[in-house]
Amino acid sequence: MNRGKKVGEKRELPGLKSAELLKLRNQYIPKGVFQIAPIFIEKGKGAIVEDVDGNEYIDFCTGISTLSVGHCNDEVISVIKKQTEKHLHTCFHVIMYESYVQLAKKLAEITPGKFPKQVLLANSGAEAVENAVKIARRYTGRRGVIAFEHAFHGRTALAMGLTSQVKYYKYGFGPFDPSIQRFPYAYSYRAPCGLGADEYANYCIKKIEDSFKTYMPAEETAAIIVEPVLGEGGFVPPPPAFIKGLRRICDENNIILIADEVQSGMGRTGKMWAIEHFDVVPDILLSAKGLGGGLVISAVIGRKEVMDSVDIGGIGGTFGGNPVSCVAALKTIEIIENNNLLARATYLGNMAKDRLDHMKQKYSLIGDVRGLGSMIGVELVKDRISKQPASEETTKIRKNCHEYGLLIMSCGVLHNIFRIMFPLTITDSELEMGLNIFEDSLRAVS
Ligand SMILES: Cc1ncc(COP(=O)(O)O)c(C=O)c1O
Repeated sequence: MNRGKKVGEKRELPGLKSAELLKLRNQYIPKGVFQIAPIFIEKGKGAIVEDVDGNEYIDFCTGISTLSVGHCNDEVISVIKKQTEKHLHTCFHVIMYESYVQLAKKLAEITPGKFPKQVLLANSGAEAVENAVKIARRYTGRRGVIAFEHAFHGRTALAMGLTSQVKYYKYGFGPFDPSIQRFPYAYSYRAPCGLGADEYANYCIKKIEDSFKTYMPAEETAAIIVEPVLGEGGFVPPPPAFIKGLRRICDENNIILIADEVQSGMGRTGKMWAIEHFDVVPDILLSAKGLGGGLVISAVIGRKEVMDSVDIGGIGGTFGGNPVSCVAALKTIEIIENNNLLARATYLGNMAKDRLDHMKQKYSLIGDVRGLGSMIGVELVKDRISKQPASEETTKIRKNCHEYGLLIMSCGVLHNIFRIMFPLTITDSELEMGLNIFEDSLRAVS
């Protein structure tokens, strides 16, 4: 018998069982490990999650853009089960296995660029970032790295240095790598001085070019690392002129362009990789999150001559490209391809954006609705002229959504942006139900 509440029904949070577990969590786990809701999961299937108190939720978070093919996808589970009966781990440095090589081949084939590529498999997004910078430095013999405001690249030392959100990702953790230079990201909604989207993109590009005379010469710059759509920074797609401008700078100065697609990749934007929307080919592309269909894996995919510049033993690791994760990743890619999930991401994204645009007309709290495919940001402001971030309202709406059975989370340096990242397998009616709860919560707080 289901003891909990259905989606749309109000529930007390935390429920009794979650509250008990929360006590243990608070005793044994540091507060630095953040949570968006006082909920412990019992099980998940597709777009629906059930917590330990039997309450159901529609999931617009998907483990932070990780479960594009839904919770516990049957096909992914099936290959995982089979693999666990063969071998769990050998360490690819000790005994090789076919799935690592097949996944590398597949990723080389499905990433932009017709040139020969090689692939390093690792465990997390941050690890992919660290490796990409190492490889770019080794290949170019240069040290400098250019990163952007509002960027998020992970929590390890170098990745944290590249990350731009101070509280709480960097607060008190310095010093950071001194060879990182930071420039504005072409975040059109917050362009200064009334600049238009393209004007601001061109301004951002020019600032980098000027910096080669004032901060760090191009000849000392190894790489530019950029999220083709900002993730943690606010689900911001930049104007094409920005990404194209970065490519031009890299071409003119032999700098490696690294596209961090940890959050934007694997079909979420309606193309396999967000950078394809801009018709730009990076030298190195990073994937993680959605790659493993829920399992732990990341990848650094790059030009063969760049990847192969590292000496034997210079990259790798004990668990990188674990065999169970490799088969899950291969199956996840196959599911996206065989089920036209790219087209589905576009369709669902349009459906959600239409509805959210409609809400924008009704509620002045919404300042901006934006996104590519199913990677949608909704920025809340106190008023549309000052664009002062509506951070408290965002928190209230988020809590209200959770209480009515919609799991949703915010992002942005100012914590005032909802990021909508449902599984690409969600049904139309589940999406609609989720958006209904979002609108009800928005109305309640407006
Ligand atoms: C764009 C981007 N890069 C890197 C990372 C770090 O990934 P991980 O948390 O797996 O280390 C994230 C995580 O949110 C991300 O969004």
